[in-house]
Amino acid sequence: RNVFVLNGPNLRRLGTREPDVYGSRTFDDLAALCRETGRRLDLHVEVRQTDDEAEMVRWVHEAADGRVPIVLNPAAFTHYSYALRDALAQRTAPLIEVHISNPAAREEFRHTSVVAGVANGTIAGFGLYSYVLALQAVAELLAEESA
Ligand code: DQA
Repeated sequence: RNVFVLNGPNLRRLGTREPDVYGSRTFDDLAALCRETGRRLDLHVEVRQTDDEAEMVRWVHEAADGRVPIVLNPAAFTHYSYALRDALAQRTAPLIEVHISNPAAREEFRHTSVVAGVANGTIAGFGLYSYVLALQAVAELLAEESA
């Protein structure tokens, strides 16, 4: 089964972007980790990144139309994008919100997620391993669905 791992603005710059917060591993490392985790879980993982809200919304529509589960790091969109939230509310398959850092332990504006309420759940604060946990959660939800 296909799964999308969708990443919002600035995440392509992992490795050089605030390494004290986001670590030194690159976006390519993240993509490889997700695909490898997918193989282990028997999921075909497609990793994408965009800085563009409209493109992100279109990908979410594509997932809804194809019943494709999503692991989503909305990045800064997390905190303000009602357009993204409304797109995600149309989901037809599991949705897990992920964050590399722990937004609850950071600036006040990061304490609000407008996306969390339409997700199955949120995994935050485990570095790139947040994505591994999120893919495991997707596999678990899909197994429950078909049980
Ligand atoms: C982030 C946390 C967000 O607050 C921030 O805007 C990001 C990355 C994370 O993965 O920790 O861009 O989503």
